[in-house]
Amino acid sequence: MSAHWIAPSILSADFARLGEEVDAVIAAGADLIHFDVMDNHYVPNLTIGPPVCEALRKHGVAVPIDVHLMVRPVDRIVPDFARAGAGFISFHPEASEHIDRTIELIREHGCRPGLALNPATPLEYLDYTLEKLDLVLVMSVNPGFGGQRFIPSALRKLEAVRRRIETIGRPVRLEVDGGVKVENIQACARAGADTFVAGSAIFGSADYAATLRAMRAQISAL
Ligand code: DX5
Ligand code: ZN
Repeated sequence: MSAHWIAPSILSADFARLGEEVDAVIAAGADLIHFDVMDNHYVPNLTIGPPVCEALRKHGVAVPIDVHLMVRPVDRIVPDFARAGAGFISFHPEASEHIDRTIELIREHGCRPGLALNPATPLEYLDYTLEKLDLVLVMSVNPGFGGQRFIPSALRKLEAVRRRIETIGRPVRLEVDGGVKVENIQACARAGADTFVAGSAIFGSADYAATLRAMRAQISAL
């Protein structure tokens, strides 16, 4: 794995051929598989849950599964995802009654905790949590759907989170999620992101390997 990770979001994959789709992006060089969980409650859409995560593991997916929970409540579902083979589990602070408890719960179940910040969510949520996190997910769209347009203020937010991560002296991944494509991935990397979620830009392209190569070329041309 390189210092920069690309995490294709299977939200934009062909769900009727999910195993093949995941194999294809891994063969194309994906570092993580981003797994969007939506509950038609915290966000106005409904997607996939622990059985699908477990099925991907049984299918042979060896790269970490990066579970992005857009659900309320959060805690009930965490042990199920740990059992299903999740690597990272990120959640939205607004969706948890007790943020610190949820972080501990994810860690206790052997997964790596992440906090997901919506475009209008302030960074104060990191004040007492950053030292316990393995990942900060900066949303560059409002959560709920793939294929939305990148919100430019996410770049300033990435810069600010990167500055905070530098002060704590332990590795925390900085992930950007929403509207990321070949044309703006370099700006995200320059702002400090090291982990890049892309759904429609990858699964909507004809050649996944070519798209991943183009994204990596943009990042390394920084
Ligand atoms: C949005 C999801 C994203 C989404 C990204 O709520 O969290 O992970 O799949 O899709 P694109 O890359 O198409 O914006
Ligand atoms: Zn996501």
